[in-house]
Amino acid sequence: MDLSHVDLATEVVRTERLVLRPYRQDDVDAVHEACQDAEIQRWTTVPSPYTRDDAVQFVTITTGSARAAGRALTTAIEADGRFVGSAGLHFTPGPLGPAVGYWVAPWARGHGYAAEAARALADWAFTRGAARVHLTADVANAASQNAARRAGFLQEGVIRSSLPYRDGSRGDAALFSLLPGD
Ligand SMILES: CC(C)(COP(=O)(O)OP(=O)(O)OC[C@H]1O[C@@H](n2cnc3c(N)ncnc32)[C@H](O)[C@@H]1OP(=O)(O)O)[C@@H](O)C(=O)NCCC(=O)NCCS
Repeated sequence: MDLSHVDLATEVVRTERLVLRPYRQDDVDAVHEACQDAEIQRWTTVPSPYTRDDAVQFVTITTGSARAAGRALTTAIEADGRFVGSAGLHFTPGPLGPAVGYWVAPWARGHGYAAEAARALADWAFTRGAARVHLTADVANAASQNAARRAGFLQEGVIRSSLPYRDGSRGDAALFSLLPGD
């Protein structure tokens, strides 16, 4: 993948319905509210309980520094000018290619936004030379796996005991990928 001509700090990805843009200070309240959701706390690694300071940190520091350091293209998903969720492309080293991740605020689910965002980030990576993009979802996370499939991803297998849960136990992840020709 060649990111030499990309200004990751300001990069915006547009789809038919969505704008995937850098986080802004005025996203704090929406991120804070969304991350109170039990599904987001169950299936992602966001802090739990999720405080307003966590949202401030995520919006103003974490996501911007990941972009600045070339680690990830983390984006706020906007639909009709409203914050609806988060999607990211993580430039993980190794043969699996960049990883796509997402969560959608409870008030915006069921519209195919996660799938549309995942597809757009994968296509963005392919345009810049990625040979493949991958995505992992807990084997019990049906909604996320459906979103991945709707985005065109195919399941390759299961990565056993790869997910650390909050209670110290571990779970299995379904591994998905998308190739430029899929
Ligand atoms: C997973 C998540 C991002 C999906 O967001 P979304 O924008 O509603 O997703 P989409 O509308 O693109 O697709 C959801 C699909 O799952 C289905 N679905 C929704 N809830 C479901 C459930 N509880 N069980 C099974 N399928 C479900 C929808 O019908 C849809 O399927 P379809 O494409 O065949 O119609 C959202 O539910 C979420 O944020 N969950 C909590 C965080 C999370 O799990 N993130 C992913 C970590 S890998």
